[in-house]
Amino acid sequence: MDTMRWLDGELHLLDQTKLPGAAVYICCNDYNIVAEAIKRLSVRGAPAIGAAAAYGLVLGAMGLEAGNTAEFIAGVERVAGDLAATRPTAVNLTWALNRVLDRVKNSLPAEPEELLKIMLKEAHTIFNEDFEGNLAMGKYALELIPQGARILTHCNAGALATAGYGTALGVIRAAHEAGKNISVYADETRPLLQGARLTAWELVQEGIPVTLITDNMAGYLMARGMVDLVVVGADRIAANGDAANKIGTYGVAVLAKEHGIPFYVAAPLSTVDLSLPSGSDIPIEERHPGEVTHFAGQMVAPEGVKVWNPAFDVTPARLIAAIITDRGLVRPSYEKNLSELGVRPPTYSK
Ligand code: MRU
Repeated sequence: MDTMRWLDGELHLLDQTKLPGAAVYICCNDYNIVAEAIKRLSVRGAPAIGAAAAYGLVLGAMGLEAGNTAEFIAGVERVAGDLAATRPTAVNLTWALNRVLDRVKNSLPAEPEELLKIMLKEAHTIFNEDFEGNLAMGKYALELIPQGARILTHCNAGALATAGYGTALGVIRAAHEAGKNISVYADETRPLLQGARLTAWELVQEGIPVTLITDNMAGYLMARGMVDLVVVGADRIAANGDAANKIGTYGVAVLAKEHGIPFYVAAPLSTVDLSLPSGSDIPIEERHPGEVTHFAGQMVAPEGVKVWNPAFDVTPARLIAAIITDRGLVRPSYEKNLSELGVRPPTYSK
């Protein structure tokens, strides 16, 4: 099932809040619909929100009534600002928006009509490159996955979180396709259950053996010797290798260290942010208290209780055995080895 599709000048987004119960697409013909879908997590996962935002920017540009190129550029920048403000942690969002803006500015002088075509082409390229990058990550990671490996993952870093195939789940898919006879433990991932609703759903559909556990079972699972390695995705990786990912990832990494289990992060270079020296600089989204006080629409906490609901945490680089990127495996020292990959945020060169 496609996470998103561009069809006849509209973006169709699979509404992930409705999975696994129903597969419903949201038809976006206005960038505000895309922005709302990102905020609501109808589309979620770092690379997927990057690609959706790039298409959203195209929709915003299509809706502009610009009399000339300067007005067009000003309008596109305003739309990009609105889309960038939807979620703060995944750097793929601003990375994708900057990439399209960069392409526009480097194509000047040109008429708005021509710029619109260039923007759409760039959005398609971002989408297609993400898919190709996931396949590459899967190949690079094969050497890390022993035959018969029992793999723990957290949240959803699958086809649904990307243009298709997945980062952490892409690694798992590639190992399965290579005949490694792997099996997966999926953390349910409270509060929004991306592991139970999305990861378990993807793996069941693919026929990859998966066992669902609640988040608080991971320690005991490891203590029983039932996990050989952990692989998760990331929303932003700082220059020193610290990696932000779904809340609960840090706890899993600490447990893995205690039990001598390798902990891997799989992410494309679009998730690496060399402008931030360490993970403490990564902005962490805090979400609505209702996500914690309610479970499946049912109130499970006392009325008026104080809630803290950070959506992500940061795993320090020292707990990460390797970062699996679309350009190959990166090992410590991350500071040196990430900078040598030549990651550069797109900048306007005109
Ligand atoms: O809040 P979400 O569901 O967008 O969080 C997603 C994650 O934390 C993923 O693990 C991460 O974005 C990597 S997706 C390939």
